[in-house]
Amino acid sequence: YNSSSSVSLLGTLLVLLLVYFISTSSFSSNADGKQPPGPKPLPVLGNLLQLDLKRPYNTLLKLSKKYGSVFTIYFGPKKVVVLAGYKTVKEALVNKADVFGERDPMKIAESSKGHGVLWSNGDSWKEMRRFALTNLRDYGMGKKACEDKIIEECQYLMEVFKTFKGEAFDTTQPMNYAVSNIICSLVYGSRFEYDNPEFTSMVDRTNRNIQLGGSPSIQVYNLFPWMGRWIADKSEFEKCSNLNKKQNMELFSRLKETLNPQMCRGFVDAFMVRKQTLEESGVTNSHFSNENLLITVLNLFAAGTDTTATTLRWALLLMAKYPKIQDQVQEEISRVIGTRQVQVEDRKNFPFTDAVIHETQRLANIVPMALPHKTSEDVTFQGHFIKKGTTVYPLLTSVLYDETEWEKPHSFHPAHFLDKDGKFVKRDAFMPFSAGRRICLGESLARMELFLFFTTLLQHFCFTPPPGVKEEDLDLTPRVGFTLNPSHHKLCAIPRL
Ligand code: HEM
Repeated sequence: YNSSSSVSLLGTLLVLLLVYFISTSSFSSNADGKQPPGPKPLPVLGNLLQLDLKRPYNTLLKLSKKYGSVFTIYFGPKKVVVLAGYKTVKEALVNKADVFGERDPMKIAESSKGHGVLWSNGDSWKEMRRFALTNLRDYGMGKKACEDKIIEECQYLMEVFKTFKGEAFDTTQPMNYAVSNIICSLVYGSRFEYDNPEFTSMVDRTNRNIQLGGSPSIQVYNLFPWMGRWIADKSEFEKCSNLNKKQNMELFSRLKETLNPQMCRGFVDAFMVRKQTLEESGVTNSHFSNENLLITVLNLFAAGTDTTATTLRWALLLMAKYPKIQDQVQEEISRVIGTRQVQVEDRKNFPFTDAVIHETQRLANIVPMALPHKTSEDVTFQGHFIKKGTTVYPLLTSVLYDETEWEKPHSFHPAHFLDKDGKFVKRDAFMPFSAGRRICLGESLARMELFLFFTTLLQHFCFTPPPGVKEEDLDLTPRVGFTLNPSHHKLCAIPRL
């Protein structure tokens, strides 16, 4: 067994070496014009040895200081062009949206097979994205119905917080369940109890996979798929992903049994009705397939739960770390709404709280490299030639921490979003949802959730470090993962009202 695997290992290395020399020969021929500069790659490994695989975005940020805002780096044998800084990322994703708007699916996302919204391209992506957007809007995304669901969910979440009676606890699970329930309402048409194992296991597995997705070993797998069978994280990832698929299919069939085309309960119903209508009118090759339904729903869960819950957890952690800022938020809440329930409409009267939420998103930088894009055609960009099909990373970290855009890029400084009179100001370089054709599909939902959850929680609780832990000891170093979560920590939620 050992010798056969080392033979295949050697064989693969040789093939990779060959691929490398072929790819670098076109690199040196320069026939296509000047490629973006970058550190010199090694055969096969590329620049892997220079990369901090736990925090690749930090390495890329450093390299952008040396090589400029458009540079080339080799992730193993894979060539990647990195875009850095607000001006460059905007010019590419917004001004040249068509060229830079395609997705480069990662190997680990392979089981999507071009379905869904996150990892797909072309007509299927276009249809699924449009359908998801209009339907989520119909089922309340950005509207009153959704606002009410979020407000209701807040009450359940606060019940959980109260059970700890001011003692320190980990906010991760309650926050994930609460946020996930908003997606459940939009997608299935109903929420779940926090002790329903069908629900909790699905949320826990989704979160585990997002964490695994950013682990160094999965990144190695993405670059060298032949190593897959030795990578334990990959098996675990697939196991979680398959169980979630199975569970969703069960949920779908229950919804199908009770489907009423006149009264769709959520996204899944609407999808099934559209599919039936198309089939009845004889359309057989539409994109409304069972695969697209399944993968789109999984995508909405994966993209919509961890991101928002993580941002809220950063916000609470930052409040515990900076109690003076927490006081100012609470002062604003008392002054503007007192003890009544907050509404989205109130946001315009909450400049300071709004600035704190924006600054949290900026500093937390939870999707540091967006998701990989690729070029849809050959392009000359800022004087550099980039070939069709090249992987492109819009380095969102470099936009959110752009030293030419932000007064204090590395500090928590809500004044970034306030003018001298204390009014809220938008900032161009605020780009946590990315930009252009692939901009986050859930932005309006996420913004509504962040405002309502955060304001309601701060209205009812004061967040502090556990007894014996000083504010300055609260660690802001993110944990390794596909999205950047706070490191493990506990907080106390002291009731205020
Ligand atoms: C604070 C919360 C959130 C943040 C920071 C965030 C951020 C992002 C980012 C950076 C991307 C990648 C854009 C790119 O490739 O350039 C993205 C894509 C996406 N997000 Fe979000 N997101 C959040 C919440 C949500 C929610 C609540 C949903 C679900 C409704 C959602 C659904 C999606 C989907 C489906 C995509 C893929 C879009 C595509 O490829 O066309 N996100 N998000």
